[in-house]
Amino acid sequence: MNNIHPTNIYLNRSDKEQYLKQKAKVIWITGLSGSGKSTLAHGLERRLAERGYLTQVLDGDNIRTGINNNLGFTAEDRNENIRRIAEINKLFLNCGIITINAFISPTNAVRQMAREIIGDDFIEIFVDASFETCAQRDPKGLYKKALAGEIKNFTGLDAPFDRPEDAEVTVDTNKLSIEEGIEKAYEFVKSEVRW
Ligand code: PPS
Repeated sequence: MNNIHPTNIYLNRSDKEQYLKQKAKVIWITGLSGSGKSTLAHGLERRLAERGYLTQVLDGDNIRTGINNNLGFTAEDRNENIRRIAEINKLFLNCGIITINAFISPTNAVRQMAREIIGDDFIEIFVDASFETCAQRDPKGLYKKALAGEIKNFTGLDAPFDRPEDAEVTVDTNKLSIEEGIEKAYEFVKSEVRW
């Protein structure tokens, strides 16, 4: 871009990481609506906070009522949603903070875009729960509405969800309890964030 010269002076990222005694990372949790992304995100945050780590959870419903409140669920809008969120994550990374993201991020292409924007600090966690399982849980009543044709572009129904191919961790919620899922994710993340 012409005439724009981003600078970051005085305290750089590693100064801030040293101050916080942690390595900043982006933890990116992907999965269907109702798969348990937010539960895992908050459980992981609690686990890290108990050990003194500074984290920030970002999730779909919160970001979409704020900075992304002009976006819907077309493929184009989801792409822009994830692009902006990935850029926000870069700001947190430069503050030395560990972010924990809970977004459907439904396609290999959008997840790859996020990975490219963020770089090496991207850790992908797939919360694996089938469409049928999520529809049965239906914590927000969205599946009922979508199956009745009241919600368009619903993930897994008339909008795609690609099963992740290169997630660092997969949490199978059909087999693991919530606490076991949090433990599995934490076991991977703990060595990544250790100062
Ligand atoms: S995406 O695909 O990554 O851009 O979606 P995300 O930002 O994570 O937003 C998902 C939440 O939006 C609600 N919602 C829908 N989800 C899927 N499809 C459609 N059409 C839809 N409409 C609204 C829903 O509450 C999602 O939250 P989670 O936590 O995933 O259940």
